[in-house]
Amino acid sequence: MVNVIGLGYIGLPTALMLAANNIKVVGTDINQKLIDTLNSGKVTFEEKGLSDLFEKAKENITFTTEYQKTDLYILAVPTPYDKLSKKIDPSYVQEAFIKAQEVAEDDAIIIIESTVSPGTIDKHIRPLINKKVNIVHAPERIIPGNMIYELENNSRTIGADNKEIGEMVKGLYSSFCKGNIVITDIRSAEMSKVVENTYRDINIAFANELAKICREGSLNVYEIIKLANMHPRVNILKPGPGVGGHCISVDPWFLVGDYPGLANIILAARRINDSMPKYVLNRTYEIMQEKGIKDTSRVGLYGLTYKENVDDIRDSPTLQLLDLMKRHLAPPLKVYDPWIKEKLFDSQYFDFDEFLENIDLLVIMVAHKHLLANTDKIKDKIIYDTKNIIDLENVYKL
Ligand SMILES: NC(=O)c1ccc[n+]([C@@H]2O[C@H](COP(=O)([O-])OP(=O)(O)OC[C@H]3O[C@@H](n4cnc5c(N)ncnc54)[C@H](O)[C@@H]3O)[C@@H](O)[C@H]2O)c1
Repeated sequence: MVNVIGLGYIGLPTALMLAANNIKVVGTDINQKLIDTLNSGKVTFEEKGLSDLFEKAKENITFTTEYQKTDLYILAVPTPYDKLSKKIDPSYVQEAFIKAQEVAEDDAIIIIESTVSPGTIDKHIRPLINKKVNIVHAPERIIPGNMIYELENNSRTIGADNKEIGEMVKGLYSSFCKGNIVITDIRSAEMSKVVENTYRDINIAFANELAKICREGSLNVYEIIKLANMHPRVNILKPGPGVGGHCISVDPWFLVGDYPGLANIILAARRINDSMPKYVLNRTYEIMQEKGIKDTSRVGLYGLTYKENVDDIRDSPTLQLLDLMKRHLAPPLKVYDPWIKEKLFDSQYFDFDEFLENIDLLVIMVAHKHLLANTDKIKDKIIYDTKNIIDLENVYKL
């Protein structure tokens, strides 16, 4: 039996995938409400294919707030960074590890799936070992919006102290993963995961910097990137209103926090990406001025999530932008997101038509499919499209 600890965006699909592949699983989370929802037969967030997977998994999985006595654990708890020191806050992983170890059978394997900064396991987890357990680091790469497909098809890295344990864990993931599973040491597994997300952050920052340069130089950044990417060894990502979520905007900070003075490009990239919500806000004010819109309440932000077609709003560019306005005591802009059903802001709308009736300037922050299916409704609005998805006349771009 596998006890999966932490049933959020990563832990839940992983637990369900194992159970759907005939492995007995107990899912444990400290959040009673989340456990109650799962026990009532409902999934806790929207993700393509997740409900179907739940159906297939039902026979083999139970949910509880209790840690289970077993010989196999997967920890998928949060790993935020400290905003001041920029270093990882390992407290969630430490707590989960201590609790798992307390009830674990001798020689149990405790797999840490949470993303951790390189050296975290040596520094913050090994000193906690007080009985015979094996630590493994198996970082996760799946992308929200395509999690189920990627769980099955991505390749994976397993960091273990010896080959035998690595092979055992490889066997577990092979129950559902068709990708290549490579065994390495723990520190290399930690570092490679953080490097992957840092690479993407830097590439996005490059695109964002190009967007600023092209605006200044009266060039179309999308055309420039399209042309440059025709080179067989160039692949520049897309510019946008910023970077949010739980991975790309977090993991690079681990390297900045641990290697200050060395992580220079990484730090610059973080700063560029963090500057984008302010850039979008300033440009929104410019467009308002150009179009004679005096009242910010006539401006609406489309999209609250950190990426398209998911319901995850953690640290999204829109939240960063709204936070910026709040700090400057500026009146809030209107917001609408078809994926968010919960009331988070006074100026939030739940009906798209009503939202549009109450604004003149539409700022597109997220490229949800919903908007692409409703472009006829926005034709008469002034549009600032930070995602380059609207192909209409006179649309303002990044
Ligand atoms: N979300 C992603 O797209 C993604 C992708 C790859 C890797 N990761 C990494 O996976 C890890 C988990 O991320 P997430 O997005 O699933 O987080 P999440 O916040 O969605 O879920 C974490 C869950 O852990 C629970 N929890 C916290 N402490 C606990 C404890 N001591 N015992 C039991 N449960 C506990 C919380 O209640 C929560 O339900 C992080 O390290 C993250 O960086 C996330």
